[in-house]
Amino acid sequence: MATPPFDAFRYAHAHRREVAWMSQNTNHLVPPQIVREAVEGALRERRYEGYPYASGDPELLDLVRADLGIPGLPPFLTAGGTESLYMIARALLGPGDEVVSSDPSYFIIHRFIELSGARTRNLDIYAPPYRLTADRVREAIGPKTRMILLIDPLNPIGSGYPREEVRAIAEIAHDHHLTLLNDVTYRDFSREPTLAAEFAPEETVTVWSVSKNCGLAGLRIGGFSATPDRVRAIARYNTNDLGVNVLAQVAALAALRSKSKWIGEVVRQTRANGERVTATASSVEGVTVPVHPSWANMTILDVAGTGLSPEAIQEEMLRVHGVFVRSGNYLSATHGGKFVRASFSNPPGDIDRFATAFPESLRALRARAMAPAAV
Ligand SMILES: Cc1ncc(COP(=O)(O)O)c(C=O)c1O
Repeated sequence: MATPPFDAFRYAHAHRREVAWMSQNTNHLVPPQIVREAVEGALRERRYEGYPYASGDPELLDLVRADLGIPGLPPFLTAGGTESLYMIARALLGPGDEVVSSDPSYFIIHRFIELSGARTRNLDIYAPPYRLTADRVREAIGPKTRMILLIDPLNPIGSGYPREEVRAIAEIAHDHHLTLLNDVTYRDFSREPTLAAEFAPEETVTVWSVSKNCGLAGLRIGGFSATPDRVRAIARYNTNDLGVNVLAQVAALAALRSKSKWIGEVVRQTRANGERVTATASSVEGVTVPVHPSWANMTILDVAGTGLSPEAIQEEMLRVHGVFVRSGNYLSATHGGKFVRASFSNPPGDIDRFATAFPESLRALRARAMAPAAV
């Protein structure tokens, strides 16, 4: 019988206590007592026995509004930004429509777009400046274009958009009456955080999340903000009609209430880690780091010059060193075979392990590739 392919996620979850989780841009730096105390309180009150208030905790909605700083645009809570992205694609796109987007990108959104019958027009951005530009977006717009997908900062590359570029792209959306889907999941890590809604409030749908900034990925809570009409149109596709998980709401409330106290240190440590990841990777022959410094909490390590496959590197690092980075194949149709992505909102000890695991794994894989095949 053929051996089944290695299931990295199954392996990593089974060994989660030993794994340095650098594969999903999650955040392991938020002081844990903030969420623990809030959720323990809710558990003691047995709040899980009842449904949540379906529209979402009013204080939480106020905090989200204040955090984004776009007062006129009401937020809608969903089970992570992911559910918002699905609802937006279903509500605003149909067969034949086109969306201007990029490759690499967070392709899960592209899948939702395709499910609605629309197609993405992926501009190749695997060259400087490693992001969309207003000029390229303008050129790509055709009669079928309905939407521009602006992920800022961009997973997986870690590139981000200067304020003037966001403004220029927002103006294009406004002039052409296009929806601007502005996914700001990694906004808190950005060097120039800018919301497109500031420039095109009617056209922009902002998708936000507390998975990455607040370290709550496992609780599944996020949402979108748009004009009240748009929110109503998109909310028709809400399947989570009885509200978002009550414990997730309690955790998000506690995290957002205290965010100003700890986010600065989270970002500082993340950036210091990013420096070390980049220095380690760049010192290995055949490896380059296309975008530095990252504007997010992840970066890609281009391993094309090593002749090794990203999947082999992912597996070697995970199995031998317990360091989980992600191969690029689900993030780029054209370039996914060239890179692994490493995220680094992690304790410095995880970065120490990466600094050993990455060069050693590449050395071991190269040595194996050179060894004569056993007969
Ligand atoms: C660009 C982008 N958008 C959305 C998400 C989904 O986030 P959430 O955990 O809020 O569903 C991710 C997760 O990695 C992401 O990278």
